[in-house]
Amino acid sequence: MPESKSANPLREGLTNRSLPEPCSIIIFGATGDLTHRKLVPALYNLAAEGALPQAVNVVGFARRDKTDESFRAELGETTRQFSRRQVNEDIWAGFAGSICYHRSAFDDPAGYATLAERLDALDRERGTRGNRLFYLAASPDQFEVILRNLRESGLNRAPGDGWARVIVEKPFGTDLASARDLNALVEASFPESDTYRIDHYLGKETAQNIMVLRFANAIFEQLWNARYIHHVQITASEQIGVEGRAGYYDKAGALRDMIQNHLLQLLCLTAMEPPVGLDADSIRDEKVKVLRALRPLDDAAAHKLVVRAQYGAGAVNGTRVPAYRDEQNVNPESLTETYVAMQVNIDNWRWAGVPFFLRVGKRLAKAATEIAVQFKGAPPVLFNVARQTLTNNVLVIRIQPDEGISLRMSAKVPGAAVRVEPVKMDFHYGTSFGKGTPEAYERLLLDAMSGDATLFARRDEVEEAWRFVDRILDAWSAQDAEGLAMYSAGTWGPTEADDLITRHSATWRRL
Ligand code: BG6
Repeated sequence: MPESKSANPLREGLTNRSLPEPCSIIIFGATGDLTHRKLVPALYNLAAEGALPQAVNVVGFARRDKTDESFRAELGETTRQFSRRQVNEDIWAGFAGSICYHRSAFDDPAGYATLAERLDALDRERGTRGNRLFYLAASPDQFEVILRNLRESGLNRAPGDGWARVIVEKPFGTDLASARDLNALVEASFPESDTYRIDHYLGKETAQNIMVLRFANAIFEQLWNARYIHHVQITASEQIGVEGRAGYYDKAGALRDMIQNHLLQLLCLTAMEPPVGLDADSIRDEKVKVLRALRPLDDAAAHKLVVRAQYGAGAVNGTRVPAYRDEQNVNPESLTETYVAMQVNIDNWRWAGVPFFLRVGKRLAKAATEIAVQFKGAPPVLFNVARQTLTNNVLVIRIQPDEGISLRMSAKVPGAAVRVEPVKMDFHYGTSFGKGTPEAYERLLLDAMSGDATLFARRDEVEEAWRFVDRILDAWSAQDAEGLAMYSAGTWGPTEADDLITRHSATWRRL
């Protein structure tokens, strides 16, 4: 893969601190939820930490009628609501001075021509050097028209020595064919080296720590294979429902929404071989190899190894919640899955015979994301005998909340009798490092400003993940209502998912 002409040679993968360059960030879809809840709070937090480049312009591009002032005031309110740290009004005022609003329809060439003039003027006034980071935060059906207009207006080429990059928000396609089309569309305007496909799970501090845990500690890597590991469970359980996003979610479902991207990325980080270096492509090369080694599921395997389910009415944290089909804007006969549990096999030397179980769902009993590596048992002699069967060792990487790592092992209960019980060695980020973990979007925006694509999905990663998921979607489309299990909101999902894992003499973890 060619080096980006814009890559910053001082920054290499996960090893160095970001050195973001002065730039304009142009957000398409600036009046939407993502901008208010995630992007601007993330930029504010970077400003509060002094991590932004000396000069930055945030230009909101959208259709609605607003002025710079009204846009700033709205963002001020939502940032106060969604920022992870309390907003300091002086810092906000300083940061808000860099925000402006550019009103235009996405399909109006004149809006792009005036945007170009405005960006040139901002470069002169504020020293942003012609560097442009375009953020596609609009709905995906607008991506084509935005990308075309960026190309036709010449905005995809930065003036002078500057750079022009594009960040593409998820969902990246709805199947392999549409992901390929979208990749071709992006490629017609921006080279791969300037394309940043967001998977916000990669920006989570704890997801980045998977590689550090594996490759900065000599003890784990020796055990990280089929010889010692019985199985791996990767769970992302949510208590929230569709949260006003039913229009999107009812067409997507949990497989597309969470498994194709976030869970397969976590799987790749857990299963990949050590990369030859920490640069973006060395890491992404190894992740792609994992995706290529996933055993494809034919119809019969998809029915046997993948459980899809939808939540019915129930109670979450003591509050009654409606069934999925009764949520606003959901088709009352919807067959969309809000839960998926599946067994995945990685057909390579390291993992032959080790099942990976993935599980995601909305309206489950608890909100938690973790990777649990379950080791094989000690030999059935000495302490591990019929009289007393030991619990196997489990290494748990808690992605969220209460980020940390724990190792379950067996210990002797004090006293004259030999009684062995499981105990936990536990590391908590909060207590060990004394500070909160940054939001994923903070890290990802900083990296895109620095020209580091390590934590973004490469074209082939996205396509390989879809290739695997497409087979399951095909199997389901032939099936309709039959095969959709139900679970009550507030529970741990359908009993069918238990059958999936008990076949391997294991049980799902209660998080
Ligand atoms: C998004 C999905 O990508 O990830 C949402 O579209 C989901 O449906 C969210 O709720 C989960 O992210 P997080 O960071 O809260 O685990």
